[in-house]
Amino acid sequence: MANERTLSIIKPDAVAGNNIGAIYSRFEDAGLKIVAAKMLHLDDEKAGGFYAEHKERPFYNDLVSFMTSGPVVVSVLEGENAIAKHREIMGATNPADAAEGTIRADFASSIDENAVHGSDSAESASREISYFFNEDEVCARTR
Ligand code: PPS
Repeated sequence: MANERTLSIIKPDAVAGNNIGAIYSRFEDAGLKIVAAKMLHLDDEKAGGFYAEHKERPFYNDLVSFMTSGPVVVSVLEGENAIAKHREIMGATNPADAAEGTIRADFASSIDENAVHGSDSAESASREISYFFNEDEVCARTR
């Protein structure tokens, strides 16, 4: 298995619900290390650019509006098989379909406000990490 990095976003609903710490615990309990972190209040340009691939989807405007509605916490997670492991502990996009014990099952209310984002491939992870972090903002953790 490869040592990987992936991008996590704790979305405005989960920040507003005071669930940052609980969600970080899920990451650490799964063996993922937090190697970069920052809280941001995204504007339309930054959120719209992040979701540009969904620009033609009917939910795009609502998604950008939700993602700019309050602060988010963006982080880089590192570990063995980090991309798939992170998506497994997040659960399905729609919390109604998310397996018991996953982050979305426990902290998300709907597909529109689903608590967390995680990169879905190595290519996405690389692009998404550099969308939010400079190289010198990602720490090397040797222990
Ligand atoms: S899809 O349908 O497979 O392309 O969807 P996916 O790539 O998993 O998710 C697209 C992102 O848009 C958010 N979002 C919605 N998706 C589907 N339907 C509705 N109504 C909707 N509203 C918002 C969804 O949470 C995904 O966001 P991220 O941040 O990538 O998880």
